[in-house]
Amino acid sequence: MEIVARPLFPTLVWTTLFDDRELFNKEMLRLAYWLQEQDPAGVKKTNESGWQSRNNIQDIAEFQAINERILTVARTVAESQHFHPELKFELEAWVNISTPGASNAVHIHPNCHLSGVYYIQIPPNCGSIYFRDPRIMSLMLRPAITEETVFTANEARMLPEAGRMYMFPSWLEHGVEVNNSDQDRVGISFNVHIAPPVKG
Ligand SMILES: [Fe+2]
Repeated sequence: MEIVARPLFPTLVWTTLFDDRELFNKEMLRLAYWLQEQDPAGVKKTNESGWQSRNNIQDIAEFQAINERILTVARTVAESQHFHPELKFELEAWVNISTPGASNAVHIHPNCHLSGVYYIQIPPNCGSIYFRDPRIMSLMLRPAITEETVFTANEARMLPEAGRMYMFPSWLEHGVEVNNSDQDRVGISFNVHIAPPVKG
């Protein structure tokens, strides 16, 4: 007897590693701290301590390279999902500097389509990014298992990598663990809004 498992409604997290990450991240790191210097108070959102910039780096010329890369990845993801080619993409992005002991609480990004993070600096032991199963009904029955797999887990963790971008649907609950290293975890988080083409 052959039993075939067919995945229904899979939840995708897209990741891509930049080839030029070493050089690129050196410049991005400089820019992250440059931005912090201009606004040391930053803003308080999902970050538990650490520093977060205002969500306006899409309007700062110095960040043009990363802004363009995020939009390129978003457009490629949208194409793979057969989104209509005339949809308009709009970006908002911000810098996160998670100092030792800092973390990002579980959250979603309301009123957005795609969200994600690009990691610039990832010291060892600075915590995983994790995602929660959005199928809340699957929590109803939890039979005992001898080994957890991607099909039975209700939380998924990924060890971040410097130079890698992670992108996912904005409704997917996620957070980042406590930075247990003695260096900053630095990244750029973002939202991509997708709007119908303007008629006229
Ligand atoms: Fe987030």
